[in-house]
Amino acid sequence: MITLGAMSVPEHSPLQFPPDFRWGTATSAHQVEGDNLHNDWWAWEQQPGRIKNGDRSGRACDWWDHAERDFDLAAKLHQNAHRLSVEWSRIQPAPDRWDEEAIGRYREMLHALRQRGIQPMVTLHHFTNPLWFADRGGWERDDAAMLFARFVERVVPPLAEFADLWCTLNEPVGWAFSAYVSGIWPPGGRSIRRGLGALTQLLQGHAAAYRIVHRLQPQAQVGFANYFRLFDPANAASPFDRIVARQQDRFVNRAFIDGTAIGRVRAFPWVANVPEAAGTMDFVGVNYYTRDLVAFDLHRPKHLFGRNFTAPGAPISDGEYGEIYPEGLYRVLQMAAEYRKPIFITENGLPDEDDDRRSDFIVSHLRQVWRAIHEGIPVRGYYHWSLVDNFEWAAGWSLKFGLIEVDPATQTRTPRPSASVYAEICGGGTVSFARLERFAR
Ligand code: NOJ
Repeated sequence: MITLGAMSVPEHSPLQFPPDFRWGTATSAHQVEGDNLHNDWWAWEQQPGRIKNGDRSGRACDWWDHAERDFDLAAKLHQNAHRLSVEWSRIQPAPDRWDEEAIGRYREMLHALRQRGIQPMVTLHHFTNPLWFADRGGWERDDAAMLFARFVERVVPPLAEFADLWCTLNEPVGWAFSAYVSGIWPPGGRSIRRGLGALTQLLQGHAAAYRIVHRLQPQAQVGFANYFRLFDPANAASPFDRIVARQQDRFVNRAFIDGTAIGRVRAFPWVANVPEAAGTMDFVGVNYYTRDLVAFDLHRPKHLFGRNFTAPGAPISDGEYGEIYPEGLYRVLQMAAEYRKPIFITENGLPDEDDDRRSDFIVSHLRQVWRAIHEGIPVRGYYHWSLVDNFEWAAGWSLKFGLIEVDPATQTRTPRPSASVYAEICGGGTVSFARLERFAR
């Protein structure tokens, strides 16, 4: 017998996933397309000191011209799903200009996925903003949600022929924090008040997008990708550590999702009270990477008085990205299940240039997904981050998340060994006992 939490599985039996399970990978426009000249990230990359090693997205993975080459690889690796995003600044490069050619290219890309038996999930906003929008005040303006809604209204109809699974926003809480509170992302804000203002607009923008997509495509499934991270008290016996860990959990994990479920943020009602957002989530999108231990620290008000760190001695991924903690995925799936909706794991992965932890990571995380499904949690798909190495925001090209290695200078592709491990799982819809024995922790 193998023990999985409270469950036991007969030895030598593979973990069988539901037949209609989506097996895929995730990417985002700016990280893979190249030459996204008209967004705020492109401008940010040109400023000295913003990106590690002075890296720039540049041609990225050359998807604007050649995404199909990587779609071929994804199909060869037996993937049947892919989550990608559309770049607002390409489609609306100026307030009064809509680029039909760009829309045409997205139609082509989605069609190309379909032709290869890969079902697309389309994210409408993944961290980047058109420069004109950012220059006018971005998500701090009262009309931000309305401007985003206008874009959604324009982009969904031509893409609806190929996609009916939509993510309005990617990781809104983490994004607002990095953009407006810690200031490591554009526009480099450093105030909690600004972050909270943006969050309210994002929630309104999400709610508007949800309704627009449903009006245009009644059968659509619409959600957003919520960043989940585990926060465990550094010292479980300390009530202070327990309180700050719980507050971080409530804010990071649940603020936005509560907003879309009930229209207000349960733990922080003053944050974003947007009644019209209630009931605007058809599925829970789970982005899960890691966990923190949290200790009470009076000097860190921006972090809700918590000092976060990685459990000493725990296995970690490259660049101190965080602890590798597979059981955390099971725990966040339990959290996600509280919202009583189908669940997609919209991202899960690790930076691992040498690929000596990725196979183990995939198998041991999928084992936890299987455990959740077996207990009745409705997980419908898993999108590994990422198909290819890509531009990792402020970390530039230094973190390698790809199943496939990419040299951005030559655009050479080299599938890593873990790509075949994942391909075997995707192809059979099962994790074999041999893999479990070899890799799972
Ligand atoms: C979160 C983001 O959605 C994605 O853009 C990023 O590259 C990965 N996680 C890895 O950090």
